[in-house]
Amino acid sequence: MFDLHAHILPGLDDGATSMAESVEMARVAAAQGTKVILATPHRKDVTELHSVAHARTLLDELNARVRAESIELEVLLGMENHLDADLPEEIAAGRALPMNGSGHVLVELPFFGTPAFIAPTLHRIQAARLVPVLAHPERIEAFQQDPDLLAEFVSGGMLGQITAGSLLGRFGSCVRDFTGELLTRGLAHLMASDTHAPAGPRWPGLREGVEAASAIVDAEKAHDLVDAVPRAILYGK
Ligand SMILES: [Fe+2]
Repeated sequence: MFDLHAHILPGLDDGATSMAESVEMARVAAAQGTKVILATPHRKDVTELHSVAHARTLLDELNARVRAESIELEVLLGMENHLDADLPEEIAAGRALPMNGSGHVLVELPFFGTPAFIAPTLHRIQAARLVPVLAHPERIEAFQQDPDLLAEFVSGGMLGQITAGSLLGRFGSCVRDFTGELLTRGLAHLMASDTHAPAGPRWPGLREGVEAASAIVDAEKAHDLVDAVPRAILYGK
């Protein structure tokens, strides 16, 4: 499986707090059957408090530790990019990173409200030949209140990334039911853990989420959420 949203790098944001915790998250993910994790630290935490170079150093260190401990997992680098009006410029400047250097970029909309810059900025990202992958749309108020807005973005070529814990009710029954609705409407294309810690509501597991998705869409489509689709995104297919 491929997990394309994970706060697994230590000390950059509100995810892993130490390299030891990062390694433990890698161990849990690998035991669940995850082969590749995309580290997606929050971009502003990286650029305002650290640097992209520091994130790359931590990535190399984590991969070395994972190999040393014979954990079968590869960690790649991306970012969870808060959507601000300046995001297209930040991407162009290399301060906001796409997913593993691909043509896809993980974008997090504001949790509350629907500022006017959202659609124009997403369209500017598309104009730069990048595909916005919308992080956990099931937890974003703008989509909860107006699922057709998400449908409009998807029909315009964007993708939706749901979180495994959402489907399992870890964020409440409303989010759980809305995640199911996104799956049945074809507005969820990949599933990730959005892991922040080795245990808790956003642990590094995908397996239970795939099982829950299999009860809503068929098993093959559920598996595509963590395999064919994220694999194609990572490797630019
Ligand atoms: Fe996240």
